[in-house]
Amino acid sequence: MWIRPAKRLRGRASLPGDKSISHRAAIIAALARGRTRVENFSTAADCEATLACLEQLGVRIVRNSASLIIEGAAGAPGEWSFVKPDAPLDCGNSGTTMRLLAGVLAAQPFASSLTGDASLRARPMPRIARPLRLMGARVWTHAEGSEALCIEGHRPLWAIRYEMPVASAQVKSAILLAGLGAEGLTEVFETRARTRDHTERMLRWFGARVAAGETRGPGARGEELATPVYAASVEGPAALDARDVRVPGDISSAAFLITAAALLEGSDLELEGVGLNPTRTRLLGVLGALGADIRIEDAREECGEPSGRVRVRGAGRLAPAAPVSLGGADVAQLIDELPVLAVAATRIEGGLEVRDASELRVKESDRIAACVENLRAMGAEVEEFADGFRVRGPVALRGTRVRSRGDHRVAMAFAVAALIAEGDTYVEGARECVGVSFPGFFRLLETLAER
Ligand code: S3P
Repeated sequence: MWIRPAKRLRGRASLPGDKSISHRAAIIAALARGRTRVENFSTAADCEATLACLEQLGVRIVRNSASLIIEGAAGAPGEWSFVKPDAPLDCGNSGTTMRLLAGVLAAQPFASSLTGDASLRARPMPRIARPLRLMGARVWTHAEGSEALCIEGHRPLWAIRYEMPVASAQVKSAILLAGLGAEGLTEVFETRARTRDHTERMLRWFGARVAAGETRGPGARGEELATPVYAASVEGPAALDARDVRVPGDISSAAFLITAAALLEGSDLELEGVGLNPTRTRLLGVLGALGADIRIEDAREECGEPSGRVRVRGAGRLAPAAPVSLGGADVAQLIDELPVLAVAATRIEGGLEVRDASELRVKESDRIAACVENLRAMGAEVEEFADGFRVRGPVALRGTRVRSRGDHRVAMAFAVAALIAEGDTYVEGARECVGVSFPGFFRLLETLAER
């Protein structure tokens, strides 16, 4: 895909439904009793994978563009009428599909397996196998081969108290979903960093008994906690009731447009109905602290999730009062936005350092290596660390050939780099992979970009 530089972005747009929330809406509707209508369901290929897997489990889904009707499979509390799939469930490129469904399958009285593309099969699954085994399911992970995960479910599961060794909303969600089929209180402690809480909010929307918030203890081992940590719990066996859902626009897709508009002087961009869950909006805070003009208008709440219009006016260069470094708990709430922030760093006076982000190496691609390689190819000075990178700024990027590595967020981050560069940029493989999260990205960009 060739991308030309742009002078600015101008216009108004609505974004497809949030990918994370769409996965949860579909899965939790399937676990409920009755018929759920979902509006503004994500157009992402990842969410298609979730729907296809649910259908393979016998769930009836009717789709009409962005609207879905899902017939829930709930029986008595903690029991569902899913059918044992006769082939591995294909999760495509989607880690969220594989990890969240693993939690559901752990509580079913049959064996099943999950697979995906080469990128997904190479991603770490022991992080979900461990807690699901503690709950009583049998789980096999394969480093290679056609099936990434095999699960022999157990009904009922045991409720556990679990301290998360990695900051991952997917792992937390797998445990909470399994907890619906457990007897008692399943509790997850996020001692490293607080991650996105869409599962907690959606479970509550469907009537599950969920508690979530900061606690001083007792922690996972019954201990008092020196500092308060976030904990989420669900009571099982659970009975969920169908309830209609409207999915807000995807802020992680909006992130590419927001960043581009902030970097291109004279931009004026309005994005309607963007999801503004506080565990997802860190990028807005970071860009705002760097001097970008970003405002929230018409703030609302839809199905327990905040949303609103995001308006961005382009300032050009970002000039913070002091050098910027990001690390620690910030990283979990910026995890999907770090590639585009690495690109923005080339416009920050004093540059940007990101640490504690080794999780980026086990995403759809090694995103640290991908960003470092591409930024260097475009003329930036970048240092690579095991857990992050440092970008010198400000520097003018030069259009050249860069690689997406088949990773949607790398492709879109470097489309933004192409917009602010001198000369045209070729992002290899971009056209094929952006559909994983945002199929209309390039079309929308063309309508907003002024050259
Ligand atoms: C997601 C959680 C994050 C994120 C991914 C979607 C989710 O992954 O990177 O794009 O929907 O729960 P981890 O939970 O593995 O950090």
